[in-house]
Amino acid sequence: MTTPVIVSSAAQLRELTQSWREKGQSIGFVPTMGSLHEGHLALVEAAASETDRVVVSIFVNPLQFGAGEDFDRYPRSLTQDALALSTTSADAIFAPSVEEIYPDGPGATPTQSSGPVGLLFEGLSRPGHFDGMLTVVARLCDLVGPDRAYFGQKDAQQLFLIRHMVKQEGLPLEVVSVPTIRGGDRLALSSRNAFLSAEEHQRALAIPRALEIATGCSSADQARAQARSYVESAPGVEVDYLEIVDPETFEPCAPGTNPREGLMIVAARIGATRLIDNQVLAFGQ
Ligand code: PAJ
Repeated sequence: MTTPVIVSSAAQLRELTQSWREKGQSIGFVPTMGSLHEGHLALVEAAASETDRVVVSIFVNPLQFGAGEDFDRYPRSLTQDALALSTTSADAIFAPSVEEIYPDGPGATPTQSSGPVGLLFEGLSRPGHFDGMLTVVARLCDLVGPDRAYFGQKDAQQLFLIRHMVKQEGLPLEVVSVPTIRGGDRLALSSRNAFLSAEEHQRALAIPRALEIATGCSSADQARAQARSYVESAPGVEVDYLEIVDPETFEPCAPGTNPREGLMIVAARIGATRLIDNQVLAFGQ
């Protein structure tokens, strides 16, 4: 455990990472938007177990929020986040300003395109979100220069697109995924859970329950039908999508096809809060 140093400029960050590199130390990177919870901390510990030094970035990226989304009300808590990270093996917190990341201003044009998969599911509900997300991940990775970057399976489509970008662009780093951390009630931890009232939190439990129902099914068709029927009849839960996709392509598995495995992805609104979750499913084994 260390008290991580907080840096806000790219120049300070470079000085730090250069000093590590000169000693032959490897660097793990955990990009976040702050408001840290145990899910983020699991990424930090995974990074610390595989690399010599760990950088955590905290940056609420304006480019990945659409008009009318929760950019302004997204929770920001650097002091608390630094305290949480002091209980982990993080070495540095990179908390840049918007100007540091986007010298041309927050209205900068995304430099990355998420392609056809970026238009599906989360991309359909949040136009431009994935281009903005990939743009900041590419920019941050360029500044940090990590050997490995760590992302949560919780955001499965994001993870898929980052892997694709790293491969396409030939970025010199390895993408590592970390399993979803859940609360004792099985709700996936998310910074947005803080927006839920106690009653909404109870209602949100229909999401992990639907995924659990799907886990017990013997085919994709049965899993889709049963999980949908469960979550669609849950009070106060408005389903945006619930699908099974091929984890290799993120294309939806057509009804009637009988895949051996699939990734169930779900997004639902509980009051004003939109939550996502997913679960790998294996059939007929
Ligand atoms: P954020 O939502 O802060 O998440 C940062 C990282 O933590 C992501 O890789 C996300 O998948 C992971 N994470 C979130 N909840 C988790 C959980 N319950 N279990 C395991 N991992 C979890 O995702 C973003 O920020 C941004 O889009 C970012 C990649 C930082 C680019 O701005």
